[in-house]
Amino acid sequence: MNDTNTVIALNGIRKVFQTDEVETHALSDVNLEIKKGEYVSISGPSGCGKTTLLSILGLLDTATSGSFVLNGHDVASLSSSARAQVRNAEIGFIFQAFNLIGDLTVQENVELPLTYRGDMNANERRTRVAEALERVGMAHRARHYPAQLSGGQQQRVAVARALAGRPAILLADEPTGNLDSRNGEAVMALLDELHKGGATICMVTHDVRYAELTERKVRLFDGRIVDEETFVRLRREDEQRLDALIGQPREAAV
Ligand SMILES: Nc1ncnc2c1ncn2[C@@H]1O[C@H](COP(=O)(O)OP(=O)(O)OP(=O)(O)O)[C@@H](O)[C@H]1O
Ligand SMILES: [Mg+2]
Repeated sequence: MNDTNTVIALNGIRKVFQTDEVETHALSDVNLEIKKGEYVSISGPSGCGKTTLLSILGLLDTATSGSFVLNGHDVASLSSSARAQVRNAEIGFIFQAFNLIGDLTVQENVELPLTYRGDMNANERRTRVAEALERVGMAHRARHYPAQLSGGQQQRVAVARALAGRPAILLADEPTGNLDSRNGEAVMALLDELHKGGATICMVTHDVRYAELTERKVRLFDGRIVDEETFVRLRREDEQRLDALIGQPREAAV
């Protein structure tokens, strides 16, 4: 556990959502270790807990129980302000919907998270922003506003924003979900290039084709990490159930 190469260590993570009458077990006994430089995909069907898991990894949400060590620090029981600080320094987020701020320029969007870092002056921030935009091939659009960019370009800016803080890990939630296949492939190529440059990346996707591109594939089903064989079997059973559901009314209509 104290291995300096371990960026993330989750042990026995459970997440239970309590709403009026229903208790949803979104994650049950999740154990996951991610090492420095790994490129991991987490995939599984809708509702299996992918976003919940990524939110916990990114310190946006807390687990109901279990332990979470991020870069050697126990982060499971931090106060929300301490969590925000760790998040800002250690985590780079890439969201499906880009989440850029419309009335800030590209440059200002990338700089914004850095302004919350007490340890960085304006010069350092400017250098980081320029470097990050250069890396994603968007330096020539620094003064544009998000609405003036294509979806693929906006996502590249979002990747630059995530990179600028030099985080321990990049977390991406369906980063290609709002893009056409061409732009989706460009974003995947960019993530691949970052990985080859040493970045640690964890990407959530329900798109099997994109999951296949990563070095390590984690399969989630019904809130649990399962091995490949189990995953294939459970998916097949799920599809058969769906086919049966769809098949019935169709047959009845004939
Ligand atoms: N805030 C919440 N309150 C109650 N239940 C929730 C909440 N967030 C998620 N859930 C439930 O937890 C389960 C996992 O949801 P999650 O969003 O993590 O799935 P997902 O794998 O990301 O799905 P998708 O592929 O559709 O994005 C679902 O059953 C969902 O209904
Ligand atoms: Mg999701």
